[in-house]
Formats: sequence, structure tokens, C-alpha cells
Amino acid sequence: MSAPPAGAVGRAHPRLEGRDKVTGAARYAVEYPMDDVTYGWVVPAAAARGRISRMDVAAALALPEVLDVLHHGNAPRLASGVDPELFLLQEPAVHYRGQFVAVVVAETVEAAREAARLVRIDYDTEPHSTVLSEHHPGLYRPDKVNPSFPTDTAEGDFDAGFAAAEVRVDATYRTPAYHNNPMEPHATTARWRDGRLLVQDSNQGSSPVQATLAELFGLPREAVRVVAEHVGGGFGSKGSAKAAVVLAALAARQVDRPVRLALTRQQLFGPIGYRTPTIQRVRLGADADGRIAAVCHDAISQTSTLTEFAEQTAVYTRSMYAGRHRRTTHRLVRLDVPTPFWMRAPGECPGAYALESAMDELATACGVDPVELRVRNDPTVDPDGGQPFSSRNLVACLREGARRFGWADRDPTPGARRDGRWLLGTGVAGSSYPARAQASDAAVTAAPDGTFEVRINATDIGTGARTVLWQVAADALAVPVERVAIRVGDSDLPPAWVAGGSMGTASWSWAVIRACEGLRDRLRDAPGRPVPAGGLTVDVSTADEVRALRPLARYAYGAQFAEVRVDADTGEVRVPRLLGVFAAGRVVNPTTARSQLIGGMTMGMSMALHEEGVLDERYGDWVNHDFATYHISACADVERIEAHWLPEEDPELNPAGVKGIGEIGIVGTAAAIANAVHHATGVRVRDLPIRLDKLLDRPPTR
Ligand code: MOS
Repeated sequence: MSAPPAGAVGRAHPRLEGRDKVTGAARYAVEYPMDDVTYGWVVPAAAARGRISRMDVAAALALPEVLDVLHHGNAPRLASGVDPELFLLQEPAVHYRGQFVAVVVAETVEAAREAARLVRIDYDTEPHSTVLSEHHPGLYRPDKVNPSFPTDTAEGDFDAGFAAAEVRVDATYRTPAYHNNPMEPHATTARWRDGRLLVQDSNQGSSPVQATLAELFGLPREAVRVVAEHVGGGFGSKGSAKAAVVLAALAARQVDRPVRLALTRQQLFGPIGYRTPTIQRVRLGADADGRIAAVCHDAISQTSTLTEFAEQTAVYTRSMYAGRHRRTTHRLVRLDVPTPFWMRAPGECPGAYALESAMDELATACGVDPVELRVRNDPTVDPDGGQPFSSRNLVACLREGARRFGWADRDPTPGARRDGRWLLGTGVAGSSYPARAQASDAAVTAAPDGTFEVRINATDIGTGARTVLWQVAADALAVPVERVAIRVGDSDLPPAWVAGGSMGTASWSWAVIRACEGLRDRLRDAPGRPVPAGGLTVDVSTADEVRALRPLARYAYGAQFAEVRVDADTGEVRVPRLLGVFAAGRVVNPTTARSQLIGGMTMGMSMALHEEGVLDERYGDWVNHDFATYHISACADVERIEAHWLPEEDPELNPAGVKGIGEIGIVGTAAAIANAVHHATGVRVRDLPIRLDKLLDRPPTR
């Protein structure tokens, strides 16, 4: 092997597939050229609860070019018990409005769409319940919250500690339903050949999708291949097999031809899963200097009648700040709605909005600067369980953020700064996200010409994962990047963890590094011997190593700073500046890291000011389900956005030393903006989004 080049890790590099994407050469799930292809179009249920009593497909079938209409009466059978949300077209029961109850297959997409409109469905309806409320009679305590946290925790005596506190905050915060809107919708091309199923699918991890399809269709895993070469975003909504891939596979089996099926933008609002609305009561009791003695976070969210999804909303509060007396609880209600699902920083994101808002209220109540308040309450060990932190640099993020932002001379008085019509304010919030990893496999092959091919079924959902793993591999092989090729996004490759939980880079680079190290050892053991013509391959799994991790509290941290201006007459909110400083272990590629962090921050701003799923109780469905009515912040909505990171070497993580950056950018952003709006106006908005009517109708809080 040649001498190690200057390392690739830590250097900015554009995405390997960037050129293919901007030139249109990159293939997404329904863009592969394919002979004999047909088109599927889904039909959503128009009832919120009940049964299909009659399915009239005559008019749809009568259209030229229509091949078939699949529904519960004629669709191929699926195995039950895999995932009730995926037990599609099997039963006449309707569990929520918008549930996919039929699929039209036609020669053209236009014919399929038109035929879907002609499918007539009658329902025996039952009364439905679709609105979350803290007074709902169906509130219950789930056995655990996602992914496997205890539902409730208690240490010390919260009630006594809170009663005895000199300063108390007791506030209830609400967040609405949020809908994931990746640029590419859930989309699949499915094809059967000789009893084998091949799908090109838009997902965040094709190994688990392969396993789920095999189970649903009663096939051995090897009979299913799932390709997800390029994916136009997911944010969690493609974190496991979802309806589109199952429906495309069913339809392709029925018509015995390839089927392309892409959901429409409107169809993403609900059936793919969404962030549950939350109702969160936070209580903080502190001494006059703002040292927290008692903290309690009670979170209420919703799930469906089909299956339980228990968002871990209050888990953020368990480990974030100090306090001897602590309690957290989660309660759920089963409603006649689609099952909620993952959305960027599930749990942490809405939970941090509540806790970091309450911290701001405590800072105001104590007369302590909100940066200083957080510094004073920085715990030395994880308050939830007492484990040491592998590294915890929240305070460093707050200090560096304050310095860069120009926080030092801030006058804390709310509603005191004005520039013409604009009321000006600044706000801060803490941010954290767990740093975890999951077992993955990887393989690397040395070719006789001195090049290498790395293979792992990682998924690049637009994050730059492919590029980052390529950089990591080059360094692990100690060769220039030009000699390394990387393949991801195909279930025929060594199986790997999904692009989720901010665990992608940690999990995948672990396996890639071990495979590359193994190959170097093999090459070193045979000096002077040429690599055989067929290449030399090393396969690894990190399962044992990941399981053997020391029990430590591992988190990434961040500090979010926001500047807002609020129109004193109209209540319009503008965000001239967002600044985040993060401590997230090693940053492999500053270009792609920055886009993850500012993307998360922009999404957090969207949550603060724009996004709101508005449910119409009469129909049990969201009223706003397109980009005209469900507003999502774009880059142009933030005037100046900065993401910085601290150098952080943490040897207790994984071989690459990374903590994950996909989600922490959104955590805390909404609170920082809400806190800035309070600073600007004196109005504390405790129910997102911060619409102008909420600023105009309410008297200043304090
Ligand atoms: Mo993310 S919500 O873990 O895909």
C-alpha cells in the first residue's frame, strides 16, 4: 500500500451524484426505463370509520387503457400480522379517511387517474373521533414509548420539590400535526418475474423494506430485491415499508406486468404518517438564581386504531437539564386517524419546543439571562439514570453561539426594541439528539489494478451519505479517493441500518471502516503477492461490536439563536437570522454537514411559523393538503442562516467518531424563534405555529 494521503475525512466535497441529479441522469423510483410498464393510481377512502358496503368499478373498468381495479374483493392476499397499516386491500374495514382502499392499473398514468375518479364506493359509516384533547375519555398509558423508552419516569419527589421552589413555571404547549413532504413522494416501480419481486422504491432503508415485503408476500428474503439508488428525501416518512411499495407489488402481481405507482402530493397528507399533534405541560421549579430543583413534563399525543405509535415527546426532558426532583409521563389516545410516524427528530423536536420555551419563561421569571440559565443547569452526569456522558458540550455551544451571535449586551426586556414598524427580538434554545449506532454489514473488494469497491446497503436520501462513506473508506484504506468506488442503495448489497435516527453515518461508516481495515490486514499479510484476478474481498458485520458498546450517555448538542422582527400592526414575523452551533463529534464532509444542519434549522423555522395540519372534525381529515394551503418554509424565508460546529473528539462513539447531524438541526429551532418573538413583542405563544392572529389577539404575557 502506498503512504497514506492527506485524509479525505473532514474535507469538503460535493456529492458524488450531484452532477447526475442536476442533469436529470439520476434515476428515482418511477424513472427507470422499463418495457411493458403500467401505471397505478390509488383511491383513498372517503369515510373516517366504517366498512365498505359496495365497490362499483364498472365505470372505471370501462375506460379504454384500464387494466384492472384492485380492492379488498379481488386483490392478492397478504400475510396478516406484519404491520396493520400495510394490510392493504384485504378487508372492507376503513380505519381513517384517506386510507388507500383501491388501486387502478392502466396503460397510462392519465387513464389510471381518470379511472380512480370513477370508482364508486359506498360505506357503512360509524361515528368517528379524530381530535386530540387532554380531556379525551380514551387517554391511556402505553407500555413504552418509541422506540423502547419507559413511558413514565420519576426521581425524587416532584410535587414536594415544585411546591417548595421559589420560582415556578407551569405552562402548557401545543403543537399541531405536521406532514412530511419530501420532494420525491412515496413512489415505487414493482415487477414480478419467475416468482421473484423486484422493486425500485423510494425509501430510507431497503434492507428492512425487503424483509417486510418478503413477510407480506410469503417469500424467502432472497426472492425480493429492493433498489433505492436515489431518494428525494424522507425525513422519517420512508423509514420503513409504506403503502406505495405494497400496493405497487400487489398491482404488479395482479396484472402480471410492471407497475409504477407514485403518490400525489395530496396523498402524502396522512396515509404516509405524520408528526402527531402534542399537548405538553411543563413545570419547572427553581431557586431565585434559576437553579432547577423540580422538573415535570407531561406529554399527550395520538395514535390510530390500527396500531400504536407512541411519540417519545418528553424523553428530551429526561436528560437535558439538571434538577433533583423529576417526572415525565406520556399518554396516548387512539383516534380514527392514520397512524402517526417518524418526522425529523420525533420526540426531541416537539419536546424541545416545550422544554426550551419553559426554560425561557423561567429565565424571565428569575431575571436570569437565558444562556446563563442553561449553563447553570448543565448536569455533570445524565440525570436520567446517572450515567456519565461520553462528551457533553452544550455549554461550549451556548458560549460560542452567544459570541458569534452578539448576545452579550442583550437587554432582556420584552417588547422594548423597535425599528419603525418592526418590533425586534432575539431568542435562544438548547438542542440535543441521541448519538447511537446500529449493526450493519459491509464488504470491500481490492482489484488487481489497485482500485477498491466498497459495498453496503446504506441509503442516500439526499444527505450526502454516499459521498461521506466514500471519504471514510478512502481514509480507512489509506488510498486517494480516486481509487475508491462505492455502491449503496440495493438490497443485494450487504444489509445495513436505515437512514434514520441520525444513525446512518455512525452505523455505516463503522462497518465500512472495519471492512477496509480487514482488507488492509489481508493485503499486509501477503506482501508482494498480486491481488488475484477476481479481486480480494472482505465482508464484515458490526453486530458484536455495536452490542458491546460501554453504557454511557451519548448525545450531540447544539445551541440555537434566532433574531426576529414582528410587524407591530400586522403581526407578521420575519426571521432575519438563525445561528446554530453544534457539537456532534467529527464532521466528515463540511459541505453535506452544513446542508443537513441548515436544512434542519429551516424545517424548525417552518414548524415555528408556517406548518399546521388543520383537521376538520366533521370529515375527520386534514383540510390543507397541498403546498398552497400547508405552508413550508423555503430557503428564501430565512434571510441569514449559519451553522457552525465545534471540534469534538469523542472516542466512545464509533470508529469514525461521528454523532449524527440529520436531526439535531431542527431540535430547539422553534423554541428559539418563539422565545425571540416573546422578546420582541412580550407575547408568549404556546401553541404553534406563531400566526399573526395569535400575536394580535393576545395581550403581552408579562
Ligand atoms: Mo428520521 S425521523 O429518524 O428518519
